[in-house]
Amino acid sequence: MDRKVILITGGSSGLGNAFCWRSALEGHTVVGTSRDPRFQPAAWELIPLDVMDQGSVDRAVERVIARHGRIDVLVNNAGIGIQGAAEDVDPSMAMRAFDTNFFGLHRMCRAVLPHMRDQGSGLIINIGSIIGNYGMPFRGFYSATKAAVDRYSEALRMEVRPFGIHVVVVEPGGYRTNIARSRLRPARRGGAYAAGYARSMRALDRDQAYCQDPDECAALVHRIIRSDGPGPTYRPGQFMARLSVLLKKVVPERLFEHFLSMRYGWGAAAGPERTAPAVPERRPRAEEALQPYHDLSHGRSGA
Ligand SMILES: NC(=O)c1ccc[n+]([C@@H]2O[C@H](COP(=O)([O-])OP(=O)(O)OC[C@H]3O[C@@H](n4cnc5c(N)ncnc54)[C@H](OP(=O)(O)O)[C@@H]3O)[C@@H](O)[C@H]2O)c1
Repeated sequence: MDRKVILITGGSSGLGNAFCWRSALEGHTVVGTSRDPRFQPAAWELIPLDVMDQGSVDRAVERVIARHGRIDVLVNNAGIGIQGAAEDVDPSMAMRAFDTNFFGLHRMCRAVLPHMRDQGSGLIINIGSIIGNYGMPFRGFYSATKAAVDRYSEALRMEVRPFGIHVVVVEPGGYRTNIARSRLRPARRGGAYAAGYARSMRALDRDQAYCQDPDECAALVHRIIRSDGPGPTYRPGQFMARLSVLLKKVVPERLFEHFLSMRYGWGAAAGPERTAPAVPERRPRAEEALQPYHDLSHGRSGA
């Protein structure tokens, strides 16, 4: 096996930590990162990096090049969660999530790509999320950051392929890490969404109880690193999480959203406590009621 130089952002915890350990045990030269590298693992190196800071990104990449001469694989893993009703999330908090999960990943790609082009080879693995495939109630901004990773990676893959560089997206679903603890949360909570938000977060915590071992995801990442022709997208994780992506494609959009709302405690039956409705419910006109289901939907667009 040829020994590769692998740079993994966010090596201090969770999936990134599992990627670092497995890569080192497989015999590669591994550099992980942390905003606050307090420990030095025996089998790999942990260096400082904040993906929100361009200077920090440049310093980290130059340090790896100076020490090892090349970067064969970049795993863009660093990320944070964000939760809250969309209306409650302040734009500055949403921007912080995008700055880490999306622009941070872009900063890393820009810093590493010139070296990979010079080498004539390279592999970039961008860690998205299963819920980048659809919006989840009270986690819309997280879904949005990861959907952005998907679209960006598709375009980048085509642009850099002629230089011998592969771009892969891994979209995990449900691994036991510290991400729930460090999620950004709006300070202003309560009001209109309080009951549904609380139910939805309880459902999410219940899911966490079934979370899987991060090393299982690390094993997949290693199959990708070993592969000569990796695929574009991989979805490791819980069966239901993977199934949801298929359902999103085949089930009518309104039905899919109904299932998701019910699953996360925000369905019609579980919505906000109602007193008398402010306006009477509008009954469909007779001609509307006769139209087929999809004609009444608000469009199943891919946008
Ligand atoms: N766990 C899951 O089931 C799951 C599912 C889908 C996607 N993901 C994705 O997997 C990735 C890893 O998450 P995780 O679950 O392993 O969470 P985690 O245990 O909280 O680890 C997050 C890592 O990201 C690093 N990080 C956060 N902000 C950073 C910044 N500004 N600059 C550099 N590093 C930063 C952290 O390092 P420091 O704090 O030491 O800097 C830490 O090592 C994330 O992209 C996440 O969105 C996870």
